[in-house]
This record gives sequence, C-alpha cells and structure tokens, in this order.
Amino acid sequence: MTGTTPGSRLDLRRYARTDVALRTPVGYADYKSTGLRAPLRTPVDLPHRLTEVTGPLLGEDRVTAADADLTKRLGGEAQGQRIIVHGRVLDSDGRPVPNTLVEVWQANAAGRYRHVVDNWPAPLDPHFDGLGRVMTDDQGRYEFTTVKPGAYPWGNHHNAWRPAHIHFSLFGRAFTQRLVTQMYFPDDPLFFQDPIFNSIPEGARHLAISRFDYERTVPDWALGFQWDIVLRGAEQTPFETEDDGDVA
Ligand SMILES: [Fe+2]
Repeated sequence: MTGTTPGSRLDLRRYARTDVALRTPVGYADYKSTGLRAPLRTPVDLPHRLTEVTGPLLGEDRVTAADADLTKRLGGEAQGQRIIVHGRVLDSDGRPVPNTLVEVWQANAAGRYRHVVDNWPAPLDPHFDGLGRVMTDDQGRYEFTTVKPGAYPWGNHHNAWRPAHIHFSLFGRAFTQRLVTQMYFPDDPLFFQDPIFNSIPEGARHLAISRFDYERTVPDWALGFQWDIVLRGAEQTPFETEDDGDVA
C-alpha cells in the first residue's frame, strides 16, 4: 500500500455482517471438541477498519498448475476414484471473485490423512499428499483434479464416522472474507450422525453439498462434481472503484 491512506475513502458499511441467526455456531454440543475452543460468551462485533476491509496480496506466481492436480504427486498416481471438483467463487451479490486463492486438503481414498496425528489403520498412499491450491480465473472459476476421499472414524461419539469431505480455505477481496469450510458429496449415508455437518443450520446444509456433474465428467477418465462457494462480503467491493487502486 502506498500513498495516502485509503481508509477514509472506503465505505465500511458495504461490508455488511451476516445475520447472526444464519451463522453456523462456533460451539455445538454434539461436536465435543468445540466445548474446549468455542467462546462461552457472546462474541463482540468489533468495527471493521482498514485491516479488515483490505485484502491479502498473494500473487499468482506462487501457485502452479500442478498444484491443482492432487492425483499426481511424488512421482506417481494416487489410488482411488478420480474426480474433478470445480465451481465458482462468488461474493454475496453473486458476482464472481477472480484471483482468489482456493486451498484444499483432504483424506486419501482410504480415508486417511498424511498427518502425524492421523494413525488409524487405513493405508497411506505414497502418491497422495491431499493438498492442493489454485487461483480463481477472471470468472471466479476454480478446478481441482483429485480422488474421492474416503470416510474416516473419529472419536467424537460411539462409531462416529465423518462423511466424505474436502476442506476448503478461501480468501476473498478482504481479510474478513476468509472462509474455511468443507465440501460434501451428494447422498452421503453418514450425514445423519455427523455433528459437524449437522451443526450447519438445517436450511443451509445443502449449500455445503456438491452436485454430481455429469456434464463435467470426462469419459474414460474422471467423474465430475460442481460446487459454488459464496463469500460473505461487500455489496460493492473497494477494488472496483477508481479511488481504491492503491489498495490493491
Ligand atoms: Fe477432515
């Protein structure tokens, strides 16, 4: 950032907060570990200032095309059902968000993460690290090639299994537009007993489930799933006004 402080030219009211009633709670009794990390008191909404309404400067040159293909790692191909996961990142007005970093992490086809604390007896895949990232294009589109993650057990309750899911992290045009979430697959039989999925208000759960996309399926190669992501955020972003050029 250079020149005059742009904060005085930003209309902070454009960064409307989501209705409290529509937020997924940070504490959810059935999701036991939230009892240790969720605030017990009602959070205080602090005013949005320059730090909250300006965005990360990540740079496309740090992300390569290979980062979007999780099936080819460490000199070989991953085991499992090959899938293409694609969609668009949209702001709260339905407009595409270009040049935003989309990062994913997931378990392998057997349901195991390549992580030191994941040691349940499912096989690791020597050619799958479960990590990917991509920048959205000028239409807000992203696409990954990966394998469908397996379900895995966890200690939340008796016979607890996570539905198949892919973790997503996104940055929008402002730090307050960071979103960390999970994408699910249609008709997963494990939804009913998963407190993470069910902590989402019932009317919003469908927004976390991808759509099987036969049109994007590649014959003799991979199945397709489509999932659009809507970031909380501005009615009109600062980057689209001429005054805000020095913010970017
Ligand atoms: Fe997970």
